Amino acid sequence: MAAKSSRQRQNPVKITVSEDGPYIVSGDIPLSEQIIVADDAGFSAEWRKGEDYSHEESYSLCRCGRSKAKPFCDGSHAN
Ligand code: FES
Repeated sequence: MAAKSSRQRQNPVKITVSEDGPYIVSGDIPLSEQIIVADDAGFSAEWRKGEDYSHEESYSLCRCGRSKAKPFCDGSHAN
């Protein structure tokens, strides 16, 4: 997926760290999994691209580790 230019975006690219909550991402930023690949000695050697996540123009990313919908926040941090 090609990234949109700032003129094509409805909202500016922005990531807000909420207090005791998720990262709030806006600006239609692409989101994909990145996997660390180890060499034969077990050291990190390279990144491999994993799953692309479909998302809305704005979305929230879990940073508490309790979401059942990772990488997205499902509100579990508030419990
Ligand atoms: S930050 Fe909301 S569930 Fe983790």
